[in-house]
Amino acid sequence: MFGDNMPIRENASKQETLTGKGVYLRPFGRGDLPYIRKWWNDAELRRLIGEVAPMSRAETEKWYKELLRDKDRIWFAIVLKKGDRVIGEAGLLRMFRPWRNTDMTIIIGERDAWGKGYGTEVGRLLLDYAFGRLGFHRISVGVVGFNKKALRFWESLGFKKEGVERDEYYYDNEYSDGVMMSILEDEYEKTHKDVVRKKAEVSKRSSPQSA
Ligand SMILES: CC(C)(COP(=O)(O)OP(=O)(O)OC[C@H]1O[C@@H](n2cnc3c(N)ncnc32)[C@H](O)[C@@H]1OP(=O)(O)O)[C@@H](O)C(=O)NCCC(=O)NCCS
Repeated sequence: MFGDNMPIRENASKQETLTGKGVYLRPFGRGDLPYIRKWWNDAELRRLIGEVAPMSRAETEKWYKELLRDKDRIWFAIVLKKGDRVIGEAGLLRMFRPWRNTDMTIIIGERDAWGKGYGTEVGRLLLDYAFGRLGFHRISVGVVGFNKKALRFWESLGFKKEGVERDEYYYDNEYSDGVMMSILEDEYEKTHKDVVRKKAEVSKRSSPQSA
């Protein structure tokens, strides 16, 4: 099967722009920090993603410096093709190449962009990239238990629930479970044959015979 011995590409942190039908994902830049501040200062959004505190300008700068230093994270701005409007952030984090696994996140910060299929498009772009281009085997997400929309969203992308972390979160005087979900490469490939093709191309390019 493709990918069994596929090394995670060394230059996985060298970022590309991923282009879909209605959105594209471009490397997150310093100029996007005001969006982060806006979204993290939205208490309802923080509740949905399990963040605890708003971010000041200095804290977003610090967050960005850490992002640049972090070799185990790839971060994108989600941009609508129409009007080049930034609507969210997404990426891979805690990438662990020896085990070929990574965490993933998608946050559409602009509320008027919810429920229009953009999240699904972003999810597919990232999954194609992580499985097909970078050669990961397992991708996981952690979801706040009461975020039913997000649970349905990840399930619609093919993620499966694999466990519950009891009372993991505490927000507004209330505990809530954390739900761990994941998807494996063969599960994704069953429904996305083009990923298999991309992996074959990458594997061919990096095999000694083709060098
Ligand atoms: C969760 C999120 C990424 C989904 O993206 P989206 O663009 O709004 O969702 P889509 O339009 O692509 O919908 C995809 C699926 O998500 C689920 N979904 C979307 N909106 C929903 C709603 N209001 N209620 C229940 N399920 C919903 C459905 O399963 C939907 O599939 P369907 O349309 O076939 O029923 C986005 O709404 C978001 O970022 N929300 C705020 C932050 C957040 O919760 N992030 C996730 C952190 S784990």
